[in-house]
Amino acid sequence: MKHEDIKSVLESGEVGKEAVVCGWVRTFRDSANVAFLEISDGTSFKKLQVVIDKSALAVDAECTKLGASVRVRGEVVPAYKGDGRELNAKEVTLLGKCPPEYPIQKKRTTLDFLRTIPHLRLRTNTFAAVFRVRSVAAQAIHRYFHERGYYYINAPLITASDCEGAGEMFRVTTRPWNAKAESEEEYYKSDFFGVKAGLSVSGQLEGEVAATALGKIYTFGPSFRAENSNTTRHLAEFWHIEPEVAFAELPDVIEIAEEMLKYLIRAVLEECPEELAFFDSFVEKGLIEKLKHVESSDFAVVEYTDAISLLEKENARFQFPVSWGSDLQSEHERYLTETVFRRPVFVTDYPKEIKSFYMKQNADGKTVAATDLLVPGIGEIIGGSEREADYDKLVSAMRERNMDLDAYRQYLDLRLFGTVPHGGFGLGFERFVMYVTGIENIRDVTLFPRSVKNIK
Ligand code: 4AD
Ligand code: MG
Repeated sequence: MKHEDIKSVLESGEVGKEAVVCGWVRTFRDSANVAFLEISDGTSFKKLQVVIDKSALAVDAECTKLGASVRVRGEVVPAYKGDGRELNAKEVTLLGKCPPEYPIQKKRTTLDFLRTIPHLRLRTNTFAAVFRVRSVAAQAIHRYFHERGYYYINAPLITASDCEGAGEMFRVTTRPWNAKAESEEEYYKSDFFGVKAGLSVSGQLEGEVAATALGKIYTFGPSFRAENSNTTRHLAEFWHIEPEVAFAELPDVIEIAEEMLKYLIRAVLEECPEELAFFDSFVEKGLIEKLKHVESSDFAVVEYTDAISLLEKENARFQFPVSWGSDLQSEHERYLTETVFRRPVFVTDYPKEIKSFYMKQNADGKTVAATDLLVPGIGEIIGGSEREADYDKLVSAMRERNMDLDAYRQYLDLRLFGTVPHGGFGLGFERFVMYVTGIENIRDVTLFPRSVKNIK
């Protein structure tokens, strides 16, 4: 269907020329002689105003209904207000009717309600803006790594090894629900892969394989977690950006994470000014200022042990008081980044018991060279580490966790054949989108969010 994007008509439509656009009706105002139709085709935050001279053009009433889809041919004229463009209609054609039951009505509907209609909510300003920002951010991620010589790797989604070792893997099986077996091993022997398989929680282990040959790589794909946590920050299926770098130690990992995050923030600020202005007005006051500040200032770095000392002084305010060895809960993470440091903060060198088997063991015998990046409003947005490059130390960490070494032979081989210091991190893409839009619930930055008891 030959037509122009509304964005291009608004920004560079030639005055006096004819243009054809398509879109959905967002508002309709009628008066004695003229009527105004605002339409949107998703290409821009701004809608296009179509002016109908009622004495010259009769428009089918169906074309004026909220949500109807139309095609408009008209003359490009300067906007009545501002320096944009409008269209003086010559022809308005109905593409699809929209009856009054259309659930997206003009009065601002709540995010909670819109979550019940995921297939229609993108037609609102808020969701269309979220998904434009999400797309810009995804492009910026590829650009960031490509410009720096990283290779883009696609790790498998079906796997037999659990990267995080937290038992949060969804199972992948083709066996019928009532299949009988003498033992677990027996059950999986007759299964599709002949062993227990699941959906990957992270592409890191395969990322290490690639990084220890190609030097610098990243993955950007879905990860799956069968976490039973019904929070505003967890999904069962989320998108994960995982760079992995050879010849890198923990400070390098931190430097890359900070530089990458700032690059992404800058890209969104530059490429989505209208969306951010909207979020700043309606979702999080001061959002743009926050992002500019973060983009231009240094992130804080604090060792876990020092963070615990800071938190212990405030134990009275927490639901879960902390002491050395405690895993940080969201309330502690947010207190550190929002109240103590008031900016993004890398917490480093966690106790080895609360972190994954693959993390490099520090000389103190108690901590590992791990880091989490905490940001205000969200808490953990990035988790990463230097990896244990020593074969014997890695094996002993796996034995302590009763892991099946045979399932990780290939991973261990990387430590046998030319092992190198290396490291990387994982950024949760949805958490990043929440951070730059101010949206507080991860379900509202995801097209069809999957979480406990929810697969609409
Ligand atoms: O901290 P995590 O579990 O780290 C890893 O998976 C490492 N293998 C990453 C690496 O070093 N390559 O997850 C990394 C990030 C978290 O900081 C969070 O932003 C996001 O992934 N994340 C989730 N996002 C949404 N829903 C969930 N259930 C998430 N779990 C983790
Ligand atoms: Mg983590």
